[in-house]
Amino acid sequence: MRKIIVAGNWKMNLSFEEAIELSKAISSGADGGENLESVLLFPAYPYLNAVKEQSAEKSFIHVGAQNIAAESSGAFTGEVSCEMIKSMGIDYTLIGHSERRKFFVETHEILKLKVDLAIENNLNSVFCCGETLEDRKSGDHFKIVEAQLVDSLFHVSESDFKNVIVAYEPVWAIGTGETATCDQAEEMHAFIRKIVKLNYSEQIASNLHILYGGSCNASNAEELFAQENIDGGLIGGASLKADVFLSIIRIANG
Ligand code: PGA
Repeated sequence: MRKIIVAGNWKMNLSFEEAIELSKAISSGADGGENLESVLLFPAYPYLNAVKEQSAEKSFIHVGAQNIAAESSGAFTGEVSCEMIKSMGIDYTLIGHSERRKFFVETHEILKLKVDLAIENNLNSVFCCGETLEDRKSGDHFKIVEAQLVDSLFHVSESDFKNVIVAYEPVWAIGTGETATCDQAEEMHAFIRKIVKLNYSEQIASNLHILYGGSCNASNAEELFAQENIDGGLIGGASLKADVFLSIIRIANG
């Protein structure tokens, strides 16, 4: 039985002081329960260490990078490599968030390189996928999500796939206040699990955590997390307020 993962994607928000305050409040307020697999926090790069320190006493809280470079080292001004992240004792990274795909033109090929570097460096990846509103309107949403997974993720070996979490984030629901209905989300999550099973195995598919992202908050988390194939949330806006994020963690605990 899969337990729930509650992940907070802080994006490019918060001053250093605010990030410390938030991580302190989450660390002191969050309780691990038997339904909770973990809490993942994704602050901006410069805050990784400090947020990690604040969360150190809660073993179920892990800190991750929002992005990694597609190169392993060298003359790439402004980039941060997997090796650097790993050398700080950080074990998680997001890959393929729709904002990275859209604003930084991260193609399927680039994301495939990132997936490989994360694996080489033993980082757990939260691989994001999701369709735009146009894709959904034209009925192409399953095809689009499948292509994102096939082109950038499904080359990963069975043994490495255990370090992968998938986050389904319909682009039209991110930061818009418009959540996919539970039926829409569950339908896509079930589809993702089905294609993972076809590409890998029943066991790998049933162990895979698939998180929902896109205006997930304290009011809809309970219904979303109750769906058979939804194993937690990747939460943006609602992860920036300690009380709201802590309520979501309490919901995950059941
Ligand atoms: P949101 O963002 O919860 O603010 O919609 C989710 C995400 O982009 O990961």
